[in-house]
Amino acid sequence: MNIGLIGPGDIGAVIVKKLRDAGYPVKMANSKGPDSLRELAAKTGAIPVSVEEVVQDVDILFLVLPQKAFPVLPKGLLNKAKKETIVIDVGNYYPWRDGRIDEIESGLTESAWVEKQIRRPVFKVLNSIVAKALAGAGRPTGSRDRVALPISGDNPKAKEIVAQLIDRIGFDSVDAGTIAESWRQQPGSPVYCINPTKEELQQLLKNVDRSSLVTNREKSTKAHRAVENEDYQTQVNAHRSVHNEKMKQ
Ligand SMILES: NC(=O)c1ccc[n+]([C@@H]2O[C@H](COP(=O)([O-])OP(=O)(O)OC[C@H]3O[C@@H](n4cnc5c(N)ncnc54)[C@H](OP(=O)(O)O)[C@@H]3O)[C@@H](O)[C@H]2O)c1
Repeated sequence: MNIGLIGPGDIGAVIVKKLRDAGYPVKMANSKGPDSLRELAAKTGAIPVSVEEVVQDVDILFLVLPQKAFPVLPKGLLNKAKKETIVIDVGNYYPWRDGRIDEIESGLTESAWVEKQIRRPVFKVLNSIVAKALAGAGRPTGSRDRVALPISGDNPKAKEIVAQLIDRIGFDSVDAGTIAESWRQQPGSPVYCINPTKEELQQLLKNVDRSSLVTNREKSTKAHRAVENEDYQTQVNAHRSVHNEKMKQ
């Protein structure tokens, strides 16, 4: 299974490392060009290439980008990818970072907006775990405290392939529905950045209140900023505290 990744930044670099540790061949690209990725390449064995090259001949393509990057990607970039390539959107929408996007503000899910930008279906996963937790909280299959991640997407067969990859990098997963329903795992959701177990995630996904997402997104951003330099458990606790005192671990 060949993997491409655009955006090996804060969380993208962790994804590259996790994929390499699991034995996947990975190529990666950013906006600054392959030379800027030499250090990460030496550390992980992932191959730095151009954005045009990274989409070609891969089975899975990770987009680990802030929303504001999509309009400046080369036009028609994904036309160079194989038809069967599974595209994974790891991004989130933060208006303070990405600028206001009217379609999302009017109710389009963040990943449905990404689909419109790149003209390809996507799967949404790994957007709801903080980078430090992704680096440190992975556990072998069957571990009692294994963290679970929601996966949204419209193709059940491809979703199964994505779930297998998530398992191989140390996490359980739960099918969170279609891309139209993927607001359940967007910032502000009670499943966002709280490192739930599979049972907890299944339960929480049933009760996400869409009308509270924006308010809770602001609260969890504030809570996260206060513990930005702390370990992942402290960050997870900060996110949990936004939703429910009882959820604190
Ligand atoms: N950080 C986390 O803990 C975390 C967790 C879950 C989800 N997310 C989401 O994942 C996305 C990335 O977050 P991050 O924190 O990793 O951001 P980041 O550290 O700023 O990294 C962004 C990456 O995207 C690349 N990039 C930006 N514009 C590009 C363009 N036009 N073409 C090609 N590459 C481009 C950057 O490369 P250059 O530096 O070369 O521009 C960099 O590698 C965001 O949507 C974020 O909300 C983050």
